[in-house]
Amino acid sequence: GAATHQVTVSADLSQQGPVINKDIYGQFAEHLGRGIYEGLWVGPDSSIPNTKGFRNDVIEALKAMEVPLVRWPGGCFADEYHWRDGIGPKDERPVKVNTHWGGVEETNAVGTHEFFDLAELLGAEVYINGNLGSGTVREMAEWMEYMTSDKNSTLANQRRANGREKPWDIKYFGIGNESWGCGGHMEPDYYTDLYRQYATFLKTPPGKKPLLVGSGGHTEDTQWTDVLSKNIERDMDGISYHFYTLPNDEWETKGHATKFDEKMWFATLERTYRMDEYLKNNIAILDKNDPEGELGFYVDEWGTWYDAEEGREPGFLYQQNTLRDAVVAAVNLNLFHAYAKRVHMTNIAQMVNVLQAMILTDGPEMLKTPTYHIYDMYSVFQDATSIPLTLEAPDYAMGDKAVPAVTGSLAKGKDGRTYLALVNLDPNNSASIKLDVSGGLDKTLKGEILTAEKMTAKNTFDDKDAVTPKAFKTTADDFTLPAKSIVVVALN
Ligand code: AHR
Repeated sequence: GAATHQVTVSADLSQQGPVINKDIYGQFAEHLGRGIYEGLWVGPDSSIPNTKGFRNDVIEALKAMEVPLVRWPGGCFADEYHWRDGIGPKDERPVKVNTHWGGVEETNAVGTHEFFDLAELLGAEVYINGNLGSGTVREMAEWMEYMTSDKNSTLANQRRANGREKPWDIKYFGIGNESWGCGGHMEPDYYTDLYRQYATFLKTPPGKKPLLVGSGGHTEDTQWTDVLSKNIERDMDGISYHFYTLPNDEWETKGHATKFDEKMWFATLERTYRMDEYLKNNIAILDKNDPEGELGFYVDEWGTWYDAEEGREPGFLYQQNTLRDAVVAAVNLNLFHAYAKRVHMTNIAQMVNVLQAMILTDGPEMLKTPTYHIYDMYSVFQDATSIPLTLEAPDYAMGDKAVPAVTGSLAKGKDGRTYLALVNLDPNNSASIKLDVSGGLDKTLKGEILTAEKMTAKNTFDDKDAVTPKAFKTTADDFTLPAKSIVVVALN
């Protein structure tokens, strides 16, 4: 039967933790399925209203949730991408086969210039992932020159002739992706040497060097973090790491995106919460190998990965998104905030129509997923200063496994207000929240709540607002967090 969890949130609002880098809210846009083509890019001649080929409806929605950073062009695609294919007149660009994702034709209609157009339309910074797996040192070095040189060099002039006078700014640049797998099936020692070689030749004008990202490990692995942080002494600003939530924990039958019972709800959250241990283990290694804290730990792919929707090309990784995904997003974001000292950047996979997406499209139609709404509600945490909090919550348990019933975040936003986010992972029981907070609370706490009657609630093209945030108001001493809900409130 339904019960009420007793949860205590203790904090001293005068305390300051690390800043929550806004890049934790980064997105990932790979040439995969309908993520770029259709989802973002329809081309300038499309009947779908667009700006420079990018659909206005999707851009407007993404701008509203404040996307700080976009990673492109992959993923596995990055290690097969040759940048010269994507510049110059579109009808002269080579058509390639996207061998990783459905074997479809890649027209190269979206290339470097178009990607920077997208970033500009979103007001976002860029994270470009270079090709280590099937490219060359020279190809990567020349791409960097093409994008960033202010000289009278032939490559910089080619960029100008293609329509871009000024060099672009690149915030992050990745040297390979999943080099232990699709990026070349390498050993970390071998990759380490390649990294050093490639990084040596990435030259930029003074002050224009991107943060360079080493391609690291995934899931429970810590060896890549260890080998890279021990052996790369220069030119590396952070190490990437990937962890996906597969409800069944196996690639053959990952689990259904919308048809699930409480057992699968729990399994999904129990697997998501392993991020806590994986971050802790990797960060302990960094603290040992890099005690000055110079290296960031970048979770540049994460999110739910379900069985591809029936009747669709399995290689397109299209999946629906329910209230469960919203809870997964909130739990992970709370963890990233907690480890903000090392975790400076993450990218959820992926922005549109792929895996745990913010937005789904169907021809000219689009909808915002429950995950979108979490990013929107949590946007107050971008560049906020975290405030240490102690959260005493009972377990939400099944069999011999357990996760905390409630997780949360507390921070002082850039607007000067203090924000508390809480997520109740338990689909049956509400939580009574005791705020043991010193530093001045408003009498009435106001914010937003995301919840629904059913765990499987989702937005569809017939009912786009089935799961959408509602106003939330409570007094500090009578604060109830409903079952399976996410709340963000201002404390003062
Ligand atoms: O996000 C989908 C794929 O997952 C990426 O291309 C790859 O890096 C990872 O295996």
